[in-house]
Amino acid sequence: MKGKSVIVTGAGSGLGREISRIIAQQGGLVTAADINEAGGNETVDMITKAGGKATFVKTNIAVEAECEQLTKVALDMFGRLDGAVNNAAAGQNAARLHETDLKHWNHIMDVNLTGTFLCMKYQIPPMLEAGRGSIVNIASYAGLFGFESATEYCASKAGVMGLTRAAAVEYGHHNIRVNAVCPGLMFTGMQAEVLREKADVLNEIVGMTALGRPSRTEEVAESAVWLLSDSSSYITGVSLPADGGMAGSGVSRVTRDWA
Ligand SMILES: NC(=O)c1ccc[n+]([C@@H]2O[C@H](COP(=O)([O-])OP(=O)(O)OC[C@H]3O[C@@H](n4cnc5c(N)ncnc54)[C@H](O)[C@@H]3O)[C@@H](O)[C@H]2O)c1
Repeated sequence: MKGKSVIVTGAGSGLGREISRIIAQQGGLVTAADINEAGGNETVDMITKAGGKATFVKTNIAVEAECEQLTKVALDMFGRLDGAVNNAAAGQNAARLHETDLKHWNHIMDVNLTGTFLCMKYQIPPMLEAGRGSIVNIASYAGLFGFESATEYCASKAGVMGLTRAAAVEYGHHNIRVNAVCPGLMFTGMQAEVLREKADVLNEIVGMTALGRPSRTEEVAESAVWLLSDSSSYITGVSLPADGGMAGSGVSRVTRDWA
């Protein structure tokens, strides 16, 4: 990633922070975005203290003007935009479909799906101008499998996979690659609290993996950085499961209710 300018959304915690750290460690220039100002600044401090280069832009990815501004800051700061990892997302509310209110559904779609679209909308023009670029969207194993009490989240992540495929076709001829990573279980953010309290749910999800364990966040982050980098130069349009073999092994036991 040496000298590459990359936007990472949701960089204020969890997977986004880890992806930002790895990119900076490899000599990349990170524009870290998050709605959480404290978390985003912390990520930038971490990177800077380790000798890397990063800047923070407070961004709500559900707001178009803020996505436009995010790309503008990356260009002003580093003079180019080589890549982006669209990772920011909001979690599920653990309610059944018929009990999910429209406001919540809209919020999840606005952040996870429309937010990813809006980020790409402003990341792609400078890449078109440069004649190259690489985008990695973070989907989920929930985009590949159905889970109870997570319909809005599953639908939003399947949407991200569709968006990725279509954009790969649209921009492949312009030397812009668009891929996705579907993480399996990671102990990050809100997910960690839920899973620590619900050993049965945790065991069932781990039971769906071939490796028989949850991931370390850096294992998923490394996959995303590889897809972002030139090392994967002939790969576009894929949604890569980094899920311990849930999708690859075809193990698909249905989990119980998360509510
Ligand atoms: N944790 C898991 O097990 C898991 C599994 C599959 C997929 N994922 C996906 O991985 C990605 C990273 O999640 P994580 O596990 O690191 O969770 P996390 O909660 O630690 O990180 C998500 C980040 O997104 C930010 N964010 C939320 N809404 C935003 C908005 N509107 N605008 C800008 N930033 C916003 C949050 O502030 C947070 O820093 C997400 O796309 C998530 O859906 C996570």
